[in-house]
Amino acid sequence: MSTEVKPVVVAHDLRQVYKIGRGFLKTPDYLQAVGGVSFTLQAGKTLAVVGESGCGKSTLARMVALIERPSAGELRLGEVDVMTAPREARHALRRSVQMVFQNPYGSLNPRKKIGAILEAPLEINTDLSAPECAEQARAMLALVGLRPEHYERYPHMFSGGQRQRIAIARALMLKPSLIVADEPVSALDVSIQAQVLNLLADLQQDLGLAYLFISHDLGVVRHIAHDVMVMYLGHAVEQGEKRTLFAQPLHPYTQALLASTPGIPGSGALRQHTVLKGELPSPLSPPSGCVFSTRCPHVTPRCQIERPVLRSLAGRQVACHEAERFTQTAAEQHQPKRSPQDDPIQSRPCAQTQRAVRTGVAGPAGADAGWRQNAGVLLGR
Ligand SMILES: Nc1ncnc2c1ncn2[C@@H]1O[C@H](COP(=O)(O)OP(=O)(O)O)[C@@H](O)[C@H]1O
Ligand code: SF4
Ligand SMILES: [Mg+2]
Repeated sequence: MSTEVKPVVVAHDLRQVYKIGRGFLKTPDYLQAVGGVSFTLQAGKTLAVVGESGCGKSTLARMVALIERPSAGELRLGEVDVMTAPREARHALRRSVQMVFQNPYGSLNPRKKIGAILEAPLEINTDLSAPECAEQARAMLALVGLRPEHYERYPHMFSGGQRQRIAIARALMLKPSLIVADEPVSALDVSIQAQVLNLLADLQQDLGLAYLFISHDLGVVRHIAHDVMVMYLGHAVEQGEKRTLFAQPLHPYTQALLASTPGIPGSGALRQHTVLKGELPSPLSPPSGCVFSTRCPHVTPRCQIERPVLRSLAGRQVACHEAERFTQTAAEQHQPKRSPQDDPIQSRPCAQTQRAVRTGVAGPAGADAGWRQNAGVLLGR
């Protein structure tokens, strides 16, 4: 008998195109917010989706949370094929996937007490009696670290972190298998962020939840993710296991994001050069070829014509024609060092090398030295 565990989500080539009206008698424009994203998410795991504002993260979140129907692609939640399932089956699925938003205050009804907010999903979706609903709401308050007396209070009586706990509690009332969290800690102070991230991690461990975790902050992603998908202008440009991507990012955009994130080991030397140059192009007129070509320092004529597709390389998926260059650079860093006397070229370091050694720029030891040099190029050093 097969013991294979079915994934909680399987998405294949998921797309979302919005029709943008331009006024009476004018032909509409079409904006591709998500241009073909694929991933698999298992129970108890977190897939973090990162990228700049406007790259399509929330659109992806809304599709997976069944708030918007994808324009094309395949989406399976558990056993159900979302794209072909009848309306009733889709409706039933809504219980198994719940969303947590960035602004907890905006998503809680200010006129209702917390008890009533938590009981509402049960009253609508189950046949439980009022005392049973109240009992479950009180148990949920305890599970997310709130006190019994909070049951009788209103949302405005809580801090931001507590409100996000309430939003998480409400999302869990129907015992979902998947939580789609769209920037859930972005509006919170850093110390409170850590508490909410720890709560999410504990709940995942206890309840076996799968998280699709949307964030623009790689520092946050580093704490919570198992896998990471980096998005740029509606496309996944690099995705794979978090450790692999953080140790040696191969896409120039991932390199720039990582180098610009404070707190990531080794990024300090590049912090003063962390601003990614240029603007995200308009999704109404994306660049031809590689979507990152207008901001990439490694761009070649091929990049401007041919769009790179995601392909397997060095333990992850990456969409860059030049990605091998960055694996080589990092691999070279692993070569055992020879004595300068063995090598007549090394024994006479060029001015650039001497300058780099003096400033310490070329000095970060370890696996990430190569990509950080590339990021330095990208960030305009
Ligand atoms: N309902 C919509 N109608 C038209 N365009 C939209 C809609 N929702 C999002 N967009 C556009 O799709 C792109 C991606 O948006 P979004 O998914 O919100 O990005 P992110 O969450 O990464 O900031 C943006 O250019 C945004 O303006
Ligand atoms: S394909 Fe070319 S433009 Fe795109 S990220 Fe790679 S090197 Fe840069
Ligand atoms: Mg968003």
